[in-house]
Amino acid sequence: MKTVLITGAAGYIGSVLTNLVRDEGYKVIALDRLFFGRDKLPADCDNLKVVEGDIRFVEPGLFKNVAAVIDLAALSNDPAGELDPIKTYSINHLGRTRVAALAKAAGVSRYILPSSCSIYGFQDGMVDETSAVNPLTTYAKANYNVENDVLAMADDTFTVTVIRQATVYGASPRMRFDLAINGMVKGFLINGKIPILKDGNQWRPFVHVRDTSRAMCLLLKADRKLIQKQMFNIGSDEQNYQIFDLARRVAKSLNMEFQYEWYGDPDHRSYRVSFEKVKKLLGYTPEFNAEKGAQEVAEGMRNGILNPDDPTTITVQWYKKLLNEGVML
Ligand SMILES: NC(=O)c1ccc[n+]([C@@H]2O[C@H](COP(=O)([O-])OP(=O)(O)OC[C@H]3O[C@@H](n4cnc5c(N)ncnc54)[C@H](O)[C@@H]3O)[C@@H](O)[C@H]2O)c1
Repeated sequence: MKTVLITGAAGYIGSVLTNLVRDEGYKVIALDRLFFGRDKLPADCDNLKVVEGDIRFVEPGLFKNVAAVIDLAALSNDPAGELDPIKTYSINHLGRTRVAALAKAAGVSRYILPSSCSIYGFQDGMVDETSAVNPLTTYAKANYNVENDVLAMADDTFTVTVIRQATVYGASPRMRFDLAINGMVKGFLINGKIPILKDGNQWRPFVHVRDTSRAMCLLLKADRKLIQKQMFNIGSDEQNYQIFDLARRVAKSLNMEFQYEWYGDPDHRSYRVSFEKVKKLLGYTPEFNAEKGAQEVAEGMRNGILNPDDPTTITVQWYKKLLNEGVML
């Protein structure tokens, strides 16, 4: 059984991905600081070993006999990235660059970096992997830096692939209600109004958490010639939405009268993304859409599986609390 090391495995995407990768027949080493708790992953067993540790300090020995690394660990959104920009660079950029270097030195053959479409920033028209980027925040800049550093490490024995994920939605063991679609459903069910980030005209691409995880599973098995030193946007052209229109779709999918309220300062991140490359080269298309995702989250809330009052579900607030308690980020 081949082993895949997943960093940030107890996070929103990681806790879904870990189970999919195990279902694909791999053993997973799940490396995580466990900022959101250990309970997001199952107990250790034949094909799962959870290691509490920090990507900045992890021992090289952990990479022994590992076939592939998926490097999710990061302070995972723009507001969290601004809490302490130096920490954000030390984890999201230098920490993940270190993981790639340790993986290469240990003879790991495949390294996948899950980056973000947010590095496109504000752009008119449609962008693809060849477009100039416009990273506007510390989080986006750190992602851009690590993309460049890890791609430069690719060689005949070390296959490096970067994916730029659209904004993710859907249910996960480590739930995030700070993501647009999930937050819309929460606001709607609790207050009867969908919270919409001003001014609602901004374009954003979306992808379901199981769909982005499926893309990573695909990369574990893909022909290395197709993915070596490549960058892929992960999502689908049809799921580029303007935020106001997205809110309308969420309301409709839940069969509720469309009521909304504005929040925040006008969002300067607006980008429409082409997902042609991953479709053409790897035959990848997502299975979910925003409506299905919204229904899934609403159902999870209604049946008590997803707790909207869980303080860990708003990432920046949880990190603020940890900082106040003296936990080192
Ligand atoms: N969720 C999205 O919409 C989205 C979109 C694009 C890209 N991404 C990227 O995907 C990755 C995962 O995002 P997520 O939504 O699952 O976030 P998350 O916050 O739920 O998960 C991140 C995990 O990393 C861990 N972590 C943080 N710092 C660490 C460190 N120094 N060492 C070890 N573990 C550490 C945390 O404990 C957490 O479990 C991130 O790199 C994020 O930037 C996410």
